[in-house]
Amino acid sequence: MSSDGATVQESDTVLTAVVDSVAPHSRHNPYDSYRILRAAGPFVPGPHDARLVAGYAEARAILQDARWSHAEEPQLLHGDSDVELPGSFLWQEPPEHTRLRGLVGQAFTARTVAGLRDRAEELAARLVDGILSRERADLIEELAYPLPLTMICELLGVPAESHDHVRDMSAAISRGLDPDFLLAPEELAARSRAVREFEEFFGDLLRQRTRDPREDLISALVRAEAEGARLTPAELLGTLLILVVAGHETTVNLIANGVLALIRHPAEFDRLRADPATLCAPAVDEILRYDPPVHLTTRTAHDEITVSGTTFVPGEAVIVMMGSANRDAAAFDEPDRFDITRYLPGRGTQRHLSFGLGLHYCLGAPLARLEMQAVLGRVAERVAALTLCEEPPYRPNVVVRGMSRLLVEVRSR
Ligand code: HEM
Repeated sequence: MSSDGATVQESDTVLTAVVDSVAPHSRHNPYDSYRILRAAGPFVPGPHDARLVAGYAEARAILQDARWSHAEEPQLLHGDSDVELPGSFLWQEPPEHTRLRGLVGQAFTARTVAGLRDRAEELAARLVDGILSRERADLIEELAYPLPLTMICELLGVPAESHDHVRDMSAAISRGLDPDFLLAPEELAARSRAVREFEEFFGDLLRQRTRDPREDLISALVRAEAEGARLTPAELLGTLLILVVAGHETTVNLIANGVLALIRHPAEFDRLRADPATLCAPAVDEILRYDPPVHLTTRTAHDEITVSGTTFVPGEAVIVMMGSANRDAAAFDEPDRFDITRYLPGRGTQRHLSFGLGLHYCLGAPLARLEMQAVLGRVAERVAALTLCEEPPYRPNVVVRGMSRLLVEVRSR
């Protein structure tokens, strides 16, 4: 074949990989397309005139550089429709970001989160033991959803009878985090309905907690407002939205992806069961690296910035692909190997980018880690064997990626 022919074929392969990296049909395995993008990188043209960042060094450099802003994401990904997602500090920059994140940050200190360990372990024990009593179960419905949903709802102060309503609204909003061009009209409609319901539901709860404060995070936010933090009603709702949606839709997939990785790698499961006290914590980070819940984010240059020899001018956008960066062989030994000892202290493994980095680094990372450790601890203690009943189907979601069902047979120890 002529060199021109070869070039055309190569560019076809890259184009296919760009499509596959976000296509519903490749949700079960976007990693093959990521490999092609990394080889073609560092900056491959992607949708919306944004460039795709698939390599670790570039993703890390961009995420930790505050000259790259996240404020333009709603316009970039959701500018095609007239549905407004409530603003939150996830999509704001200093000084608003600093003020709002600071208020919520008080609830997520390592100490506060450590205080939630007993509750996470109690829930994990109840849910895992419930599954063992029936031998066959959908782990999405019976473990991965209820644990983080209950934790975030209790933290906020949502009454138990409304947890399922919160779950339904967040699922529709989470689907709506994907770029509008990937969403069907009924999904866009479901998103706007869910946003309206969310505002109504949490608006009521905020009014109740203003009249009758309790020991929960909603009351703490109301108090902060009363003490002069100048949170507007829209800021309060946007803050609650990000806490609710980011607070469980992500962790659902961490739990499910983690269990799936252990099923697919029985030798690693054996190692975990042999020494859970040492291996639960590093296993959580390896699960986060190997199969992360959040696959991408966007940034827009607010300055002239040069990354790996390419200069971006103000206004240029990038799509940072953390799911790909975590599998970059330039940063990780044998990146496609699932190894629960990779993050043991002293091994010097690079940090994964699954919680982001820099100003917007995930506020809930300690809580998510704690919840997953509780699940792994109980699974290691009580489960002898897990077998897949089918190849798990995936939701079409690109940004927050995960399975829609994880049907397994379970045997207790
Ligand atoms: C495995 C679970 C989780 C994953 C993978 C995850 C991932 C992320 C990522 C990647 C970001 C940064 C986005 C960006 O830079 O564009 C982020 C931000 C955030 N996450 Fe998480 N998250 C998880 C759990 C949680 C939990 C449990 C909460 C709260 C209870 C939470 C609250 C937030 C908030 C508030 C932000 C915005 C931070 C900011 O903009 O300053 N997340 N998360």
